[in-house]
Amino acid sequence: MKILVAGKHGQVAQALVRAASSQALDVVALSRAEMDITDRQSVETAIADHQPAVVINAGAYTAVDRAESEIEQAFAVNKTGPLNLAKACDGAGIPLLHISTDFVFDGCKESAYIETDVCKPINVYGQSKLAGEEVVAKFNGRHIILRTSWVFGGEQNFVVTMRRLAQDRDQLNVVSDQVGGPTAASHIAETLLTIAKAVVRPHFADWGIYHYCGSPAVSWYEFACEILKDEPSVGVSAIPSADYPTPAKRPRNSVLDCAKIRSIFFITQPDWKNAVSLKKEKQ
Ligand SMILES: NC(=O)c1ccc[n+]([C@@H]2O[C@H](COP(=O)([O-])OP(=O)(O)OC[C@H]3O[C@@H](n4cnc5c(N)ncnc54)[C@H](OP(=O)(O)O)[C@@H]3O)[C@@H](O)[C@H]2O)c1
Repeated sequence: MKILVAGKHGQVAQALVRAASSQALDVVALSRAEMDITDRQSVETAIADHQPAVVINAGAYTAVDRAESEIEQAFAVNKTGPLNLAKACDGAGIPLLHISTDFVFDGCKESAYIETDVCKPINVYGQSKLAGEEVVAKFNGRHIILRTSWVFGGEQNFVVTMRRLAQDRDQLNVVSDQVGGPTAASHIAETLLTIAKAVVRPHFADWGIYHYCGSPAVSWYEFACEILKDEPSVGVSAIPSADYPTPAKRPRNSVLDCAKIRSIFFITQPDWKNAVSLKKEKQ
């Protein structure tokens, strides 16, 4: 089975390439230069050339704060990109697996979000990702939208930032009033490959939105404490979001309920702490 992946150099795409090679799956990842998802012709040509059985969209505009001032660019990649992919996949009669985010929610719910909860994004990135979900659902009935959160496992993420800051500072202040599920890119990759193998089976019918994130849910402060637990010389203090103003507002509660993916695909929530310590061992 051939799987075509958009956004080759991203955290999840890189993890997909690694996971596929260990499972002897034929995954072809294309960079923006090879398949620019904002360009309809580029997407159609790539799908015609590679003839995949499934497409995974791991390409996205992910600069949450910059999106507040680069609205057009965020929507081009996060809405027009999935639109082009959905239409091209529909034309080719193949499924599209699309990755989305906890940021489609406003964070005001007191418990974990389920797939049918009302989406009300509070920043441009979340709005652009929600627009992407809507066009995927509208233009290709054979779609899986996988919402995930707090991704780490590449070169630019919270884990890397905390470890870098810990090298030159003895005190870090980290926000403690935003809660979510950190998720290793490697776990998302394995999940996407499991889903890809399921959706190509004849009679598969469980299309739609799924939530998937690591467990346990924690605040950014608790996440930082775990990342730096072997660095006793660095102090970590909890601060409120109000003391760390950013251009984009963030949801207070980003926790995703992952019961649906467990019941349909038998995929359970991974413990993100194992992935953090594994990453450290590799350095
Ligand atoms: N990171 C998180 O914390 C987080 C949380 C929740 C959900 N998600 C979602 O998870 C998915 C994967 O995220 P990630 O962290 O792996 O992202 P990432 O590391 O930022 O990678 C995104 C990739 O998309 C590529 N891209 C941008 N514009 C493109 C275009 N026009 N055509 C093709 N590719 C393009 C980028 O290419 P260049 O290398 O050329 O820039 C980059 O390699 C995204 O859908 C994201 O919204 C991420």
